[in-house]
Amino acid sequence: MQPRRFWRDQFHAYRMWILERRRPAAVLQPESAALDCQFVFLDRHARRDWMVQRGDGADWAQYRVAIEHEHDLVLARRGEEVLGWAWLGYERVYLPPIGREIRLAEGTGYLYDAYVRPAERRRGIGRGLVAARCAHADARGIDRLVSHVLVGNEASLKALRTHDFEVIGRTLFVRALALRLWSRKPLPAPRAA
Ligand SMILES: CC(C)(COP(=O)(O)OP(=O)(O)OC[C@H]1O[C@@H](n2cnc3c(N)ncnc32)[C@H](O)[C@@H]1OP(=O)(O)O)[C@@H](O)C(=O)NCCC(=O)NCCS
Repeated sequence: MQPRRFWRDQFHAYRMWILERRRPAAVLQPESAALDCQFVFLDRHARRDWMVQRGDGADWAQYRVAIEHEHDLVLARRGEEVLGWAWLGYERVYLPPIGREIRLAEGTGYLYDAYVRPAERRRGIGRGLVAARCAHADARGIDRLVSHVLVGNEASLKALRTHDFEVIGRTLFVRALALRLWSRKPLPAPRAA
């Protein structure tokens, strides 16, 4: 590892907005028709293949939790081309900025790791990925959805707010060498029983 990267990894601070959405009375319709792309949820086998093809060392902590708890993965596709993807987690979720797993209450889902290819951004696909996961969670009877956004990520914040997510608090995470400080609320405790 390069020295600069090493030191940057040893000292950093993340501020994250925590957002929440309660299941509405009316079922949300995904927006794909207007977008020239489809939102496709992968089955268990396709999900595993996708992770094996994509994952490098840094992703495995997250993917291990996703496999163990059957998290849902949705792809934004135009034909066979993948334009973006996003995860919907249950039970436990690994949060890469913090390097910790949190345990979710029953009936709660967690939206995380949305990505749209740079050339396809600002066309509504990020919003569509939120809508597709909300509709999927509503159909599964999930009452509460939670997500986090790094402070400054306006695109992600707007995409969530468009679909009735509200900011419920802010978490600060600081790492300095072996010291990790986390003002975790309103997130659940890490690895809480
Ligand atoms: C966050 C991300 C998924 C958004 O995807 P996208 O397809 O560009 O999002 P959308 O086109 O649906 O835009 C959503 C909103 O953000 C706005 N927006 C998009 N890019 C923006 C930017 N760089 N700055 C400010 N606002 C932006 C859009 O105008 C839109 O606002 P509106 O609802 O008021 O019209 C994409 O930027 C991305 O992959 N970023 C890198 C990875 C990342 O940060 N992931 C999220 C953390 S898990």
